[in-house]
Amino acid sequence: MTDGSRIPGFYRLPLSERLSLVAERSGLPRAELEAAFARGGLDAEKADKLVENVLGTYALPFGVALNVRVNARDHLVPMVVEEPSVIAAASNAARMIRASGGFHAEIGEALMTAQVQIASVADPAEAVAHLVNAKPKLMELARAAVPNLVARGGGPREIDVRDLGSGMLVLHVYVDCRDAMGANLVNCIAEAVGPSAAELARGVLGLRILSNLCDRRLVRVRCRVHPRELGLSTKATHSHERPAIDPPSEPPRAAASEPPPAPGEAWVDGRVVAERIVLASRFAELDPYRAATHNKGVMNGVDAVVLATGNDFRAVEAGAHAYAARSGRYAPLVVWRRDGEDLTGELEMPLALGTVGGTLRVHPVAQAALKLMRVSGADELAMVAASAGMASNLAALRALATEGIQRGHMSLHARSVAVAAGALGSEVELVALTIADQGSVTVEAATRALASLRLPAS
Ligand code: MEV
Repeated sequence: MTDGSRIPGFYRLPLSERLSLVAERSGLPRAELEAAFARGGLDAEKADKLVENVLGTYALPFGVALNVRVNARDHLVPMVVEEPSVIAAASNAARMIRASGGFHAEIGEALMTAQVQIASVADPAEAVAHLVNAKPKLMELARAAVPNLVARGGGPREIDVRDLGSGMLVLHVYVDCRDAMGANLVNCIAEAVGPSAAELARGVLGLRILSNLCDRRLVRVRCRVHPRELGLSTKATHSHERPAIDPPSEPPRAAASEPPPAPGEAWVDGRVVAERIVLASRFAELDPYRAATHNKGVMNGVDAVVLATGNDFRAVEAGAHAYAARSGRYAPLVVWRRDGEDLTGELEMPLALGTVGGTLRVHPVAQAALKLMRVSGADELAMVAASAGMASNLAALRALATEGIQRGHMSLHARSVAVAAGALGSEVELVALTIADQGSVTVEAATRALASLRLPAS
């Protein structure tokens, strides 16, 4: 990538210029990008080979988040999402994080879990002992089931047996799937070792399938943000509320990148914003109702990258929420603290993504998405997707902790409302601006604004 992922003013450019810039920055030929997007990326004929009973395809917006730097490497981050403001918010938060060095991400081991259920075991203790003794033989069966993966340097790494009580055991095989998400590979292994495992345990063979709680394929991301980046001007006065945080005694310092507050607006100092974000994090840590929404904000970023790159977002969602509930109490996937002046964030979540196989084989947009992202493999893809999740979470908390989410949301939502009212081309921005200014982002208001825009000038 020639100049990194920072492209000020990108959102103001016409679509065709955005395509050229992304092509230039990523090194992906513009013609390849355009060809990928033709017919919404996937034509009905291809779709018909992908799933059953196909009638057509269903397109979603594809955008790129900017400013994302992970482990000192810049990435344009492809995001597929229908919700207005998610991409802008992630880009904005990534810019704040970038100013303090960007995201620092790591993946320890990257192992998927194959499960074999064995039921009706008369003597579980003896069965566990037999299975443990037979680990070398079971490992051999597992390896033989995935010769190509073994040839690529991956394959089964470890076996574990658990007694679930009530005469039921489960055997886990942990598998390094290299750059594949690995569902098929892991299921092959589970089916290959299942019969022998059940025989050794003298039990009845049950399910043989991967676990989506892939807690041995965890991503960790850390970041810090200087309060200078967090300050913002807000219309909300909250004058009826007792401020949770005392305003700082020093006069506020505006972020270099933020415009000065407009008349009638108040400046919220970055240190106050940082404290409020920590309070928002603690709220999610104490209350599962809030944690669910907090994590929805994280998944706004993660899922959008998962979808853009042709990965299985249901698997990712299942794993993320199961992991969030691992202590018995549903918890946030990202927590925020103060460290000196700075706000610091920590994310930990399972993320099983692939850069080979699956939908990627057939979906031209997913293939283009991976190329423009310039990741070296599945591990880096997971680290970037998790960073996008962290950025989305930070953006949501900063808005919620200050002026609320609706103002920003509504001005962006206004454009889709304008389209729903029938606005075309340049009318969309004009109608959107009008209804956002009126504070009435409804199809009725947009229809009225459109009608008056189309009135012939007298
Ligand atoms: C909306 O898509 C996501 C948020 O609700 C997340 C949050 O509340 O943290 C804004």
